[in-house]
Amino acid sequence: MTVHFIGAGPGAADLMTLRGRDLIARCRVCLYAGSIVPPDVLGWCPAGARLIDTAPLSLDEIEAEFVAAQAAGQDVARLHSGDLSIYSAVAEQIRRLEKHGIAYTLTPGVPAFAAASAVLGRELTVPGLAQSLIITRVSGRASAMPAGETLSTFGATGATLAIHLAIHALEQVVTELAPLYGADCPVAVVVEASRPTERVIRGTLDDIVAKVAAEPVERTALILVGKALAPADFRESALYDAGYQRRFRGRE
Ligand SMILES: C[S@@+](CC[C@H](N)C(=O)[O-])C[C@H]1O[C@@H](n2cnc3c(N)ncnc32)[C@H](O)[C@@H]1O
Repeated sequence: MTVHFIGAGPGAADLMTLRGRDLIARCRVCLYAGSIVPPDVLGWCPAGARLIDTAPLSLDEIEAEFVAAQAAGQDVARLHSGDLSIYSAVAEQIRRLEKHGIAYTLTPGVPAFAAASAVLGRELTVPGLAQSLIITRVSGRASAMPAGETLSTFGATGATLAIHLAIHALEQVVTELAPLYGADCPVAVVVEASRPTERVIRGTLDDIVAKVAAEPVERTALILVGKALAPADFRESALYDAGYQRRFRGRE
């Protein structure tokens, strides 16, 4: 018996990996975060599978489901939004599984920042403007930020920022970043990327608060900040330059 953690992607069912889809189709039990995992994805569960929405459950209750599935010899598909490597609460579940000696696997998914980049039609790293992407969040009810991991610290780098779980704190984001990036720095708020309800609000650090106030955003939105979002004039990367000596012709 194995628990398969699966990144279910940002929302569109066809942004799930083939591996994830096939695992879901094999598991007799599926635990999913109903508040965020799209219903279409559940269509891949086999007929008669036990489907459990974990949104109202505590970690103890989720652990009890794993233990019950182990006793029944049934594999479990455990779905989380986006990719598992960030803000997925997988670490605490793995710790419980290891305590019980239950085997597990992790299957990656398309993260929200990648889906947002696609919606915007923008690369998040652009030569000469930003060559790093910082994935971060602000303190929330579930987790406080560790000391040192502040927007001011990250903003001092000038990197592109992908700020999760922070739409309620947009004003704070702007206040901390405007002195570092400049009031004219581009900002995009991408709401429910890849879902039918997808929306994009584009602006600058100067006007984004007013723009979002004009069309309020309740939840599931990513704030992207950085010059790479509106690259007017940037140098091309050397990768496709005619004079660039490739070590292996035909491979990049
Ligand atoms: C608990 S985190 C999960 C992140 C996820 N593990 C990932 O890889 O993207 C939830 C936050 O991710 C962002 N998010 C997740 N899905 C999104 C989507 N479809 N569009 C925009 N933001 C999304 C929002 O900031 C949301 O508050």
